[in-house]
Amino acid sequence: MESSEKIKLVHITDMHLSKSKESLYKEVNPFDSYNEVLTNIKKSNWKPDALIVTGDISNDGSIESYNNAFNEFISLKIPVLCIPGNHDCKENLITCLSQNISSRLQIISDWVFIGLDTSLKENPSGFLNSNELSTLKTHIEEHCKKNIIICLHHQPVLINSKWIDDIGLENKEEFFEMIEKYKNIKGIFFGHIHQEFNSNINNISIYGTPSTCKQFKPRKKKFELDVLPPAYRRIELSRNGTINSDVVWIDS
Ligand SMILES: [Fe+2]
Repeated sequence: MESSEKIKLVHITDMHLSKSKESLYKEVNPFDSYNEVLTNIKKSNWKPDALIVTGDISNDGSIESYNNAFNEFISLKIPVLCIPGNHDCKENLITCLSQNISSRLQIISDWVFIGLDTSLKENPSGFLNSNELSTLKTHIEEHCKKNIIICLHHQPVLINSKWIDDIGLENKEEFFEMIEKYKNIKGIFFGHIHQEFNSNINNISIYGTPSTCKQFKPRKKKFELDVLPPAYRRIELSRNGTINSDVVWIDS
């Protein structure tokens, strides 16, 4: 790829697949809605160079759920960055990774995509332990001449919904303190919140992406389901470090 070209990414998240393709997640068949999203991506003229997947791929942690998801990734024939969320079984996710799917790092032209594991055992909240933070630092410093995108499952910012703010990334401040001196970090992408979110902190673009199945209502003190359809995010990266992004809603 010519380094002057723009890079196109697709971000999908929170698929909540299970061993059985008939299982429901909050009254939706998540396997069907995942397939609707994938079909839309494959039929679109907007061809991605890479895919980022920010956790809760599985709802039951089964090997079958990862195989169902990853077979589709392989058919896209592009690099995939895929990290675990609070519903995932990390060991099974890692077992099912294949050659073009990494849970840690993808590099395309002058952009580096770093995946972080924020998941905790039997706890819906997220935390970046010292190993994750030092791996992040190492990757940033190794690629100091490239633009960096960080991907994690839990939101590292408050989104003004108390119930889900309470189960976001616990050590947000530590995370931002660590990254604030690196000016080549251009974007942060996350899942977990099942809704669209955009913000900017210290010139870093911050994006939450809706789920491929059921969405949660924004700005609510208590959990409430939304009526919005499945969705995914398109991202365009320019060589000067700017990011343009929109959400595609799947109206079936
Ligand atoms: Fe989650």
